[in-house]
Amino acid sequence: MIGELKIPAHIGIIMDGNGRWAKVQGKPRVFGHKAGMDAIERTAIYAQKLGVKLLTVYAFSTENWSRPLDEVKFIMSLPIDFYGRFVPVLNKENIQIRMIGNREGVPKATLKAIDKAAEDTAANTGMILNFAMNYGGRAEVVEAVKKIVASGISPDQISEETISDHLETAIFPKDWRDPELIIRTSGEMRLSNFLTWQSAYSELVFTDTLWPDFDEISLDQAISEYSGRDRRFGGVKA
Ligand code: IPE
Ligand code: IPE
Ligand code: MG
Repeated sequence: MIGELKIPAHIGIIMDGNGRWAKVQGKPRVFGHKAGMDAIERTAIYAQKLGVKLLTVYAFSTENWSRPLDEVKFIMSLPIDFYGRFVPVLNKENIQIRMIGNREGVPKATLKAIDKAAEDTAANTGMILNFAMNYGGRAEVVEAVKKIVASGISPDQISEETISDHLETAIFPKDWRDPELIIRTSGEMRLSNFLTWQSAYSELVFTDTLWPDFDEISLDQAISEYSGRDRRFGGVKA
């Protein structure tokens, strides 16, 4: 579908509800995280088909360290487990992998799997699937401020562009850094420290669907809702 719809260049997804999805089936929470990987795969493939350029998926927040150690360990092991299966699919689909987030604290083996996936898909020219791993929007702004101060730039030279250029999303083309659309699954209606600076004018779409159930139809619905929004950016309608 999606004939006359507006397709965002950058979509951010807060993939929430894995634990509740597992609980409904009487399974441990980690079962939901595993199923969530399949949802990432099908959503990325379909997003690229629709013409999305950059898909940022929130995989682990700086706050998620407060979860039980076993669950944290399991989430950190997912990139390692999925590397072998995921990379051939991404290469077939021409999708590239990237990561944003604080590398410090992420286990070496996890980083290695993500780095290897980025490296092995670097020659692809299609959509970028960007994992926000150990990511926090406020921490990202703090790091940007540190870099700006260390650069010795004079205060009157600092603009919004300066900040944007020092955030982790500066690795992406300027036009794509700020997501036009952010989707959050599982019925929660908050941003939970996701793309704090970049989301200033994002359209937010919330769905009750739990992340492991998210599919092509869910993405169509979210984009269709986005398409119907009147984005005025503080102006008035012509
Ligand atoms: C999202 O699902 C995945 C991560 C935060 C890593 P949750 O694990 O938050 O699932 P719920 O919200 O407890 O159902
Ligand atoms: C947000 O989900 C983080 C990720 C999806 C990775 P959480 O489930 O951790 O967020 P809260 O606790 O509902 O804010
Ligand atoms: Mg949650």
